[in-house]
Amino acid sequence: MIMEGVACEGSSVAWRTWREAMAGALYGPGGFYRTSGAPGRHFRTAAHTSALWPRAWLALAERVYDALPAGERAGFAVVDVGAGGGELVGALAGLAPPSWRLVGVDLAPRPPGLADRVEWLQEPPADVVGVVAAVELLDVVPVDVAERTADGVRLVEVDDGGTERLGQAAGAADIAWLDRWWPGFDRAEVGWPRDEAWRDLVATLRAGVAVAVDYAADPARHRCGTLTGYRDGRQVDPVPDGSTDITAHVFLESCGGAVILQREALRRLGVNGRVPPYGADPAAYAAALQQASDAAELLDPDGLGGFGWLVETRGVALEDCFA
Ligand SMILES: C[S@@+](CC[C@H](N)C(=O)[O-])C[C@H]1O[C@@H](n2cnc3c(N)ncnc32)[C@H](O)[C@@H]1O
Repeated sequence: MIMEGVACEGSSVAWRTWREAMAGALYGPGGFYRTSGAPGRHFRTAAHTSALWPRAWLALAERVYDALPAGERAGFAVVDVGAGGGELVGALAGLAPPSWRLVGVDLAPRPPGLADRVEWLQEPPADVVGVVAAVELLDVVPVDVAERTADGVRLVEVDDGGTERLGQAAGAADIAWLDRWWPGFDRAEVGWPRDEAWRDLVATLRAGVAVAVDYAADPARHRCGTLTGYRDGRQVDPVPDGSTDITAHVFLESCGGAVILQREALRRLGVNGRVPPYGADPAAYAAALQQASDAAELLDPDGLGGFGWLVETRGVALEDCFA
């Protein structure tokens, strides 16, 4: 919690709300995400784990393709929004049928060495038939941070060095969102910009499925919010100077759509961590053991397996996708 007056008020320091500071530090000129491959250099997401990840997305895309009426499959695409270093779409380039369109979308430039068949755009295409994926995108959509104080709910302001102070009163939309989705908070991220970002993503889908994968906020547990930073593989204080990823967990339920735990979604897509019985072929056994270990990382309930999948379908049933 911030003590009123502790930060050096009245200095020439530029104070911004966290939403403004995140937007500048991550996406402004010289921002953290403006260079290619920043995610893979600074932290590990499911997209940086093993070949099981793109294979699970391929399985999902194949189910969506099969569930669509034959006349509606033309232009079938897998679109990865917030594609970072292109790890997922790059791997899919070697797996997906040649007729499928593969698109990576990111504000960062096209990653060097990405397979030629992958398109790279700065904005999501419209009217997508297929799969729209957003892996750890919503957690870096800038949000404000609010604190409950004796004189009401106030927005937190921050300077470039990460020092905080209490700022103006939170607006009506902020308070309405917090009252509905994060009651009882002392400090919390105001999640409505993520709700809007998700609605915008879903609006790009004509038929198929949209999935956002993120670490889920739990208001019962996260009474003081979740804002944090990552740099060079370490969790660090969130400093909005462009050197550091700044992220906060996503309250998935407020976005709308079905929510499935990642371990459950991946199991339904064929990922399992069963250790195989020993067979006569040592090389095959070693490969199967490696696969079980890769699966265990993705399914770990205290790690990636605890992430949430936010899912919206158009023209196909949820059960078609996650049978
Ligand atoms: C946390 S990283 C995850 C990257 C990748 N999905 C992965 O798992 O490695 C989020 C990515 O989303 C991108 N991003 C954020 N806002 C975006 C937007 N509005 N349009 C396109 N890309 C965006 C960032 O540039 C960054 O590469």
